[in-house]
Amino acid sequence: MTQSEMPAFPESYWHDSVKFPTFSKVEGTIKSEVVIVGAGITGITAAYHLSQQNVKVVVLEAGLIGNGTTGHTTAKITAQHGIIYDEFIQHFGLEGAAKYYKAQSEAKAYIKDTINKLHISCDYKEEDAYIYTNQDNYLSTLEKEKAAYDQLGIEGEMTNHISLQVPHKAALIMKNQAQFHPLKYLKALVEECTKNGVEFYENTTAMDMEYNTAPAVITRDGHRVYGKHIIAASHFPFYDKESFYFTRMYPERSYIIAMKAEDEYPGGMYITAESPTRSIRSATINGETIWIIGGDSHKTGQGKSTIKHYESLKAFADSHFRVKDYIYRWSAQDLTTMDKMPYIGAIKNTDASIMVATGFRKWGMTNGTIAGKILADKILGVKNDYASVFIPSRFHSDPDLKKFMEINADVAKHLLKGKLEFTDNSIEKLQPDEATITRIDGQRTGVYKDKHNKLFAVDTTCTHLGCEVEWNSGDRSWDCPCHGSRFSITGEVMEGPAKKPLKQRKV
Ligand code: FES
Repeated sequence: MTQSEMPAFPESYWHDSVKFPTFSKVEGTIKSEVVIVGAGITGITAAYHLSQQNVKVVVLEAGLIGNGTTGHTTAKITAQHGIIYDEFIQHFGLEGAAKYYKAQSEAKAYIKDTINKLHISCDYKEEDAYIYTNQDNYLSTLEKEKAAYDQLGIEGEMTNHISLQVPHKAALIMKNQAQFHPLKYLKALVEECTKNGVEFYENTTAMDMEYNTAPAVITRDGHRVYGKHIIAASHFPFYDKESFYFTRMYPERSYIIAMKAEDEYPGGMYITAESPTRSIRSATINGETIWIIGGDSHKTGQGKSTIKHYESLKAFADSHFRVKDYIYRWSAQDLTTMDKMPYIGAIKNTDASIMVATGFRKWGMTNGTIAGKILADKILGVKNDYASVFIPSRFHSDPDLKKFMEINADVAKHLLKGKLEFTDNSIEKLQPDEATITRIDGQRTGVYKDKHNKLFAVDTTCTHLGCEVEWNSGDRSWDCPCHGSRFSITGEVMEGPAKKPLKQRKV
């Protein structure tokens, strides 16, 4: 069995294989009917849908299009979102759970129709989806989930044999799901949007909102982009309007490796019922099959050294498959709401002009697509049958209250832990491509030494609400354990809710 090494630096295969057109940043004042913040699958689907109806749309992207979560997913187009339907029936009733399922199925149909209509070559392939287990105590959980499928009319079946060469005792199949190359798809949508008159701007961070005569997004450079409707599709909503999204969601990071193998890929898309999650699908590069294996998620900024998560996935692949070569590794950040249902809709009941879409719990391809469609429908005045189940202002005593306490107790713990921690590590002992946390003039400071022995030092106090960031060795970033903000080695914001960079410090 080959024991090839993983790539030294993280890079998503999706990202590496597609080149997007580039766009300038916002300069000066812009006026539009709709302003969309975030050019991932949600924002671009909404822009595409609206532009087909001749609505004037501006899309603002903080970085470059394709660099965000959509470019770092496993890109399964499925309504099988782990074991969820039995739980959703308990919390939202049959009607609510059925709406969630139908919304995902409609998203899949929307993607397929769009691919056919625009003749997009994006490696779309229909596959059955499997949740499998090798643990006795998950057998009844899978049976219960199958009963939920039956109640909701989901086409599925139990089996005790899957073709993937992994130990398993049973699996639950959801038929006729799909996979694709997410960025080939998005690139085609961006091109179509551009033809329809949508204006895209990159390197433009939305910092705040202002209400005078009309709502305006204020950019980091102080420019204003006016619109009658604003869509926050920025993963973490760039604007909160006292809705306290950071107290109602928790961030997780998960990891993906891509490899070539001697084994023939057996078809299908797989995910484990138990933790640590292993999520498996195939893709093709120049006609050659590659295996994509994801999982090992954990709360952002918490737990073991992040490179270990990649190593766990590699150990899994090495022990079950005949690996030829590891060709990519990358990671993703995802947000989960208190009841696991995404927030899609008006930011507040009292303000329909600003809308959000967030909390997709790792299932962004279908949730992002349906979110784009729901928000565009709202602007177009078209009734959308699924919108009611996603309303962001909902709050149920069960399970929300319990989860709310859990999320915020964890934040309080990390806020204190970071402040009280003893940190007196020596910078002298740092090896190239290593980081440490130390004290400089009594201030907690994060120091990274790059491959050329250059040191980068930042104040580790997160600019969101003051927790202390931790080093992410797998992706070389400073990650906040409280609400998941991430910062580069020079302190620039990579993920919100923080908007301001970490202070740089002298070493
Ligand atoms: Fe909220 Fe850091 S304190 S993300």
